[in-house]
Amino acid sequence: MVESLRGGPLPRYYQLKEIIRERIMTGEWAPGTLIPSERELCERYGISRMTARQSITELVSEGLLYREQGKGTYVGRPKIAQQLLRLTGFTEDMQARAQRPGARVLSAEMWPADEATAERLRVKLGQPVYKLRRLRLADSEPLALETSCITFIGCERLLESDLERDSLYQLLAHSFDMPPLEAEQELEADLAGEEEARLLDVPVGSPVLRTRRVTTTRRNQPVEYATSVYRGDKYRCHTRMVRDQS
Ligand code: GLP
Repeated sequence: MVESLRGGPLPRYYQLKEIIRERIMTGEWAPGTLIPSERELCERYGISRMTARQSITELVSEGLLYREQGKGTYVGRPKIAQQLLRLTGFTEDMQARAQRPGARVLSAEMWPADEATAERLRVKLGQPVYKLRRLRLADSEPLALETSCITFIGCERLLESDLERDSLYQLLAHSFDMPPLEAEQELEADLAGEEEARLLDVPVGSPVLRTRRVTTTRRNQPVEYATSVYRGDKYRCHTRMVRDQS
């Protein structure tokens, strides 16, 4: 059946894009739905293959759709909106979205603090701290790569914990009596390097969001300095701003 585009001055690829976007936004095409092939879209809307391809390619780069080699194009999951107002950990963020949080520990060791870490954790250069590298998963899918440097004093038994299962923020709060209370964080856009791309399961050079976060506990004492790499196709940040009235 030939359906018509809406007509008007907008380019045809754009009109098709908006039709697909609407199907996704209204939930008619849920996350994971296989959308019609380029050929089917051409027949349905009486458009050229190139037009259909352009619409799909743009929606793929916006993260609304994703392609699977040899299978077709599917509706993606909406990005995770990371709130920048409340201090939350990965586990809480995933639970709030009804996704199953997970971690693969890549390494967990004692490590002499380098300059950046020593300064942020307010320890002496070369003083031992824990260094924990975890691949963070949501419903078994890799989302972020996190390297946490954690102060040794007060957390001496950290490596005895099950770091694949337990939340670091919960361990700090409940096992070590150092609840994460505040954090300062920087965000930066970048491209995935080779190892990051392999672990995050994205092509080398894909957009990523890098964060550096220093988390403090009571008396403004730093407990964790974390550098993280989030998949750019999965994350967006949300904050609220109030204009200075003076
Ligand atoms: C966020 C922060 C990390 C922190 C983690 C704790 O992802 N960027 O600095 O280590 O939360 O998450 P969890 O409590 O799930 O281990």
